[in-house]
Amino acid sequence: MEVMKEVEKVQNKVTELIKEGKSIGFVPTMGYLHEGHVRLIKEARKENDFVILSIFINPLQFGEGEDLETYPRDEHHDKKVAEENGADLIFLPSTDSMYPNPLSIHMSVEGRTDALCGRSRPGHFEGVVTVLTKLFHITRPTRTYFGMKDAQQVAVVDALIKDYNFPIELVPVPTVREADGLAKSSRNVHLSAKEREEAPAIQKALQYGRELVCNGETRPEEVVRSTRKFLESQTHGKIDYIELLSYPELEFVKTIERPVILATAVFYEKARLIDNVVFNEK
Ligand code: PAJ
Repeated sequence: MEVMKEVEKVQNKVTELIKEGKSIGFVPTMGYLHEGHVRLIKEARKENDFVILSIFINPLQFGEGEDLETYPRDEHHDKKVAEENGADLIFLPSTDSMYPNPLSIHMSVEGRTDALCGRSRPGHFEGVVTVLTKLFHITRPTRTYFGMKDAQQVAVVDALIKDYNFPIELVPVPTVREADGLAKSSRNVHLSAKEREEAPAIQKALQYGRELVCNGETRPEEVVRSTRKFLESQTHGKIDYIELLSYPELEFVKTIERPVILATAVFYEKARLIDNVVFNEK
């Protein structure tokens, strides 16, 4: 496995691969790899000749007071995990090499971000699409792999690829969970023992909401209300939002008849956790 820190080196490598007619699978991450990331690497490995993993904690997508400084890092562990699971190249750029000068052209995201994390983290998705545009240009992938744990991110990347004609296939990958249902996340290490015990309630509450719909409930506000009540009874975490929206458009729905997402974000002392269920898909 090759490790590259310089943008140009990766670009040269990619030019060679494309000349040879190789397909490229690309998995963008912020590191501190866990089984969720591993699943993405494995999917990429199955479907492509060459797999590139990027590890870059993108300052542009963190707001003030968020966890940029304390975001967990472990380069040594990440290299081992990437290699063991079949990555061919890790791209590990420095902040200076990704943003050598302040950007003079800025991207703005409209639609798909008025709700959920887009509303509670202003500027976050602008930062995400900016770094992904750069990473897509650098790695020129055939396919790129994203986890459904961040379902709104998948919806935004879908729009980015379509709106700006990136010749890239977006491959959404199901959320990988702990045995008790908690979605794997780099931020789980910041949970106290008590919070860790309570956190599986997040997925339980979402499943409870989904069940209500399976049993005939069609009013989104009723599903949200009951899900909130269930979650509040199971955890001390502070609920940032619980919303039910169409998926992937992420628009308000009057009744539940088409693919929808029920999503939540919960604040604990040192971590904000997100999770979702998408259902009613054909
Ligand atoms: P990061 O949080 O490191 O996540 C990298 C990828 O791993 C994302 O596509 C995310 O959805 C996926 N992932 C995380 N936990 C997962 C789980 N439990 N199951 C399945 N997939 C999971 O998302 C980012 O980084 C950044 O925003 C990035 C796209 C790299 C842009 O900076």
